[in-house]
Amino acid sequence: MHPSITTLLNGPKVIPVLVIEDPEDALPLARSLVDNGLSILEITLRSDAALNAIETIANQVEGAVVGVGSILTEAQLNAAQSAGGQFGVSPGVSFKLLQALEMSDWPFLPGAGSLSEMLTLRDAGFSQQKLFPAAVLGGISMLKAVAGPVGDISFCPTGGINPDNARDYLSQSNVFAIGGTWIAPLDLVRAKDWDEIGRRAAEAAMLGS
Ligand code: 3PG
Repeated sequence: MHPSITTLLNGPKVIPVLVIEDPEDALPLARSLVDNGLSILEITLRSDAALNAIETIANQVEGAVVGVGSILTEAQLNAAQSAGGQFGVSPGVSFKLLQALEMSDWPFLPGAGSLSEMLTLRDAGFSQQKLFPAAVLGGISMLKAVAGPVGDISFCPTGGINPDNARDYLSQSNVFAIGGTWIAPLDLVRAKDWDEIGRRAAEAAMLGS
């Protein structure tokens, strides 16, 4: 069984998905989330500043559990670990990425979007998976539909989660956490609106507690 990221989740089960473009944003952004109750972060490799931001936050923000998201390749898997990431997340897996994961004991949350992908990941030892893009796949109806045939798989749905549907997602029996960009969307990060991000984080932390 691959090490599960659930061992890292003792706090609220809401994971902000972050894109950090300006390295200067790394510390105030992470602090506005952690100080308001969201300590598990997913920093995506969707910007040039990402690896540097991961290193900065991992070294300087006490209490932060730094996850690295949007991992697509073995090279990114290695870079994420070298930067100090504590767990990894992918939107899906290729055969090559799966092979690399099989040789790694780094906590990892791989993405699945179909029953066949769920079963492939389950065979590879992943009983916790990211359901992505959750809303496009049918959202809560999809989670309910797969709860029968693959009831031993637990999901972190992301993609289309927002304050209006977050509670419903979290209340599903096969959901262990939810994630998304609504807490710190790019426009608020670009505007350096740490107060609003902190307010959203505090609201989200209440959901998962
Ligand atoms: C992810 O990488 O998990 C998604 O970008 C999150 O999707 P959202 O923007 O709909 O929250």
